[in-house]
Amino acid sequence: MAKITFITKDKEEITVEGTSGSVMELAVKNNVKGIDGDCGGVCSCATCHVQVDAGHTDKTGVASEIESDMLELDDDANEFSRLCCQLQVTEAMDGVVLNVVK
Ligand code: FES
Repeated sequence: MAKITFITKDKEEITVEGTSGSVMELAVKNNVKGIDGDCGGVCSCATCHVQVDAGHTDKTGVASEIESDMLELDDDANEFSRLCCQLQVTEAMDGVVLNVVK
């Protein structure tokens, strides 16, 4: 079980719990505003863009090459950017804070 907190563009803080699947799926299931997951999680839409809170990047690891390529097309991307469909809900993710970009 991992508790994951999303901070939306409106500064709303939403903490959700999950045990498996992708972080994008968890966000969509819990109606987190700004996470659409249009491509269904195949890393081709960037509508699941989040920025990992500084200090929590050890929980999320680094973006894969295909993910980085996708993020390069997004003007709002920075070094903390991840596509949350590429993040799996695991115990290791417990407590992570993700800022929703859109
Ligand atoms: S859901 Fe499309 S890139 Fe993540």
